[in-house]
Amino acid sequence: MEPTLWCLCLALTLSLLYLLATTRGKHSRNSRLPPGPTPLPLFGSLFELGRDPHRSLARLAKTHGPVMSLRLGLVTTVVVSSPDAAREALQKKDPDLASRCVPDAIQVPGHYEASLIWNPHNQLWKNLRAIIKSHLFTTRRLDATQSLRRQKVQQLVGYVRCHAGQAVDIGQAAFATSLNVITSTFFSVDLVDLDSDRAGDFMDIVSAIMEEVGRPNLSDFFPLLRVIDPQGLRRRVTAHLGKLYKLFDQMIDSRLEGVMTDRKTNNTRHDFLDELVHLHIQEDDTRLDRQTIKTLLVDMFLAGSDTSSNTVQWAMAELLRNPSSMAKAQAELAKGIGYQREVEESDIAGLPFLQAVVKETLRLHPPVPLLLPHKAETNVELGGYAVPKGTRVLVNAWAIGHDGDVWEDPESFKPERFLESDVDFRGGDFELIPFGSGRRLCPGMPLAFRTVHLMLGSLLQSFDWKLPEGMQPSDVDITEKFGVTLALAAPLRAVAVPTEYARTSDK
Ligand code: HEM
Repeated sequence: MEPTLWCLCLALTLSLLYLLATTRGKHSRNSRLPPGPTPLPLFGSLFELGRDPHRSLARLAKTHGPVMSLRLGLVTTVVVSSPDAAREALQKKDPDLASRCVPDAIQVPGHYEASLIWNPHNQLWKNLRAIIKSHLFTTRRLDATQSLRRQKVQQLVGYVRCHAGQAVDIGQAAFATSLNVITSTFFSVDLVDLDSDRAGDFMDIVSAIMEEVGRPNLSDFFPLLRVIDPQGLRRRVTAHLGKLYKLFDQMIDSRLEGVMTDRKTNNTRHDFLDELVHLHIQEDDTRLDRQTIKTLLVDMFLAGSDTSSNTVQWAMAELLRNPSSMAKAQAELAKGIGYQREVEESDIAGLPFLQAVVKETLRLHPPVPLLLPHKAETNVELGGYAVPKGTRVLVNAWAIGHDGDVWEDPESFKPERFLESDVDFRGGDFELIPFGSGRRLCPGMPLAFRTVHLMLGSLLQSFDWKLPEGMQPSDVDITEKFGVTLALAAPLRAVAVPTEYARTSDK
């Protein structure tokens, strides 16, 4: 027998013994656990997850309720699937549930211990959140960098115009633009050229990490298997992260050199990387070490790039499937802004239909469908049930967005539903929580809000969009690919025809 197979059998046997030894004792202790499907011996409800765990969990919640528990292998997971239960978890019990359960695939030494995303609710996490809140995402900061974002979106429009009449891969173009928005806002550099293979390479790295970290992993369900990483997920994520670390290492090196020279010449760029490097070279107790800086850059890069571009891609897919909504959004842009100038971030407030399109997209296709895994820091009660300390807690934002008790005609794309309603996605309305809520609310939301509306508004202002020859709106393939983020399984391709605005601005 192969050595790996030996290890697997050994670990499974040990797991079985562990389970038998602990089940009886735990049963009485956990009898107030939330209800859930009856677990199979050893594997629990693992086989119920399938290829689309967000959908399977939504289906199970219909039977077992909005606070449900599942034994997945040897590990108990609690899943929250209604607005009231999400309010209880992310608002009332937020302090107890703000810790993170770190998937084994991302337990890459040197990475997760320094990560803002994966650290528990501790002092380092608080410091890092405070740094990005005050140095990155204030309105003043974002206003100061808006011309950079406009440039990146102009490049996107220019790229599509060069390919007018041909089918364009919207996801890849939106991804390269999101990446450049992040890197130019934070580090004053463009990482990729929209036309180059490099954009595709980065997209492959980011989507591979998202897919591998989101994929059900035996090591998470049978902790004894961690040593052998049976699916090889941690090994592959380590390799992918290594490429990003190499890139950011070089960036930090050249900036450190620059900062030393600039100090002499009194010249500085004042972007986020400059500020991080200053926090690195100072001698007091707010000093940031190099690993923490690198990890923060990697975190921003991963958390911000494909979430924003997936939102644009899903919105375009829905608009292509629903031409009347596309026409309404374009009419609003034509009326509100006209054809003499391009959309600006300051226009977003005056474009209610465009905002409704984005909300409806985030309701139907939340880019992070199960949010990121939370963990109970202490024994806590949810929905009247006991959630023991250390339990993994998932909030199924996808299930809430598709719930017929919450939304009328939930499967239809109807942006109009938001025109007459105050429901918003900023974390206060628990029927729409694509960015989460509470302490772990996505800190990048203010940047994502601007980037997504600006990209989408510009694509709709500059072009009429058609499907490739022979395709009908109902042919647009919206099959999902599940990972930490929910992507379209097949690339979305559409043909751009310049509108009057694009023709006028060309002259
Ligand atoms: C449409 C775009 C985006 C969506 C839908 C989104 C959604 C989310 C969600 C659901 C979480 C986890 C919340 C939880 O665990 O309860 C999260 C966390 C996070 N997001 Fe975003 N995000 C987006 C864009 C961004 C951007 C642009 C950035 C930064 C450049 C960013 C940075 C982060 C970080 C650092 C965290 C971890 C926060 C923590 O654990 O304390 N996100 N995001």
